[in-house]
Amino acid sequence: MPQNASAAALKALTEWWEDMGVEVDQGEIARSINAQSGANTGAAPAQAPSAPSESQTAPSSGRRSRKSASKTLHDWIQEAEALAASADSIEALKAAIESYEGCPLKQLCEKTVVYDGTVGAPVMVLGEGPGGQEDRLGLPFVGKAGQLLDKMLAAIQLDRKTNAFISNVNYWRPPGNRNPEADELAVCRPFANRMIDLAQPKIIIATGGVAAKSLLNSKTGIMRLRGSERPFETPAGTKVPLVPMFHPAYLLRRPQDKSRAWRDLLLVQARLNEMGVTL
Ligand code: URA
Repeated sequence: MPQNASAAALKALTEWWEDMGVEVDQGEIARSINAQSGANTGAAPAQAPSAPSESQTAPSSGRRSRKSASKTLHDWIQEAEALAASADSIEALKAAIESYEGCPLKQLCEKTVVYDGTVGAPVMVLGEGPGGQEDRLGLPFVGKAGQLLDKMLAAIQLDRKTNAFISNVNYWRPPGNRNPEADELAVCRPFANRMIDLAQPKIIIATGGVAAKSLLNSKTGIMRLRGSERPFETPAGTKVPLVPMFHPAYLLRRPQDKSRAWRDLLLVQARLNEMGVTL
């Protein structure tokens, strides 16, 4: 088997494990892939930073230092909190996220991907982060998984053009489409919280284990998280029911699980009905 084929197989297998709820050490997997291929499989960085890695976090595949290595992760989170708090509209928040330099992934991708869809929509969908197509176009969920997401939403009369708002828990594409790491998610979190405070959705759909676990601050895999509504609250006190659901990319690989995703979609529809939301 060619080396890049075995690396791809390893990546697909570990993604599948994760979707099944098995905890996977992505850093270890990425190091193993790099050891096989001798190079990262991700797109070439838009800007290749030369600074050494920040000492606070162990460098792993696809890791680059933030622009200012003198700031700690804590400093960057505080900066994200301040920037997010200063945004008084979704558009202002988008500009704040685009101006932020605290996520190391930003230096490795093309575009900052913030949101698509309808501001003020009753339904907010949060995925794990942009992939290749999203990075090229600067919009979330526009690749194959995004097309399936649109079909899933359409099945319960949701549409990003009218009543759905789409974003992610991370705004920059990780190299090789690896999962975002904990500190990468941590610096994005104040922005995601502020987005929820500003948008005031009636319900949040978290697609996939990365988004669901990160938002719910849980170690439980998506297999066990999905199937019921979970309480969610931002630090500012916005309370929104959150429905964890399989990621559409997982459903493309495991179409036999679409019936379970359908049950989760019906749950969303029923809750919206209960809340008197007409679609
Ligand atoms: N997968 C995600 O989780 N988000 C996107 O925007 C695209 C693919």
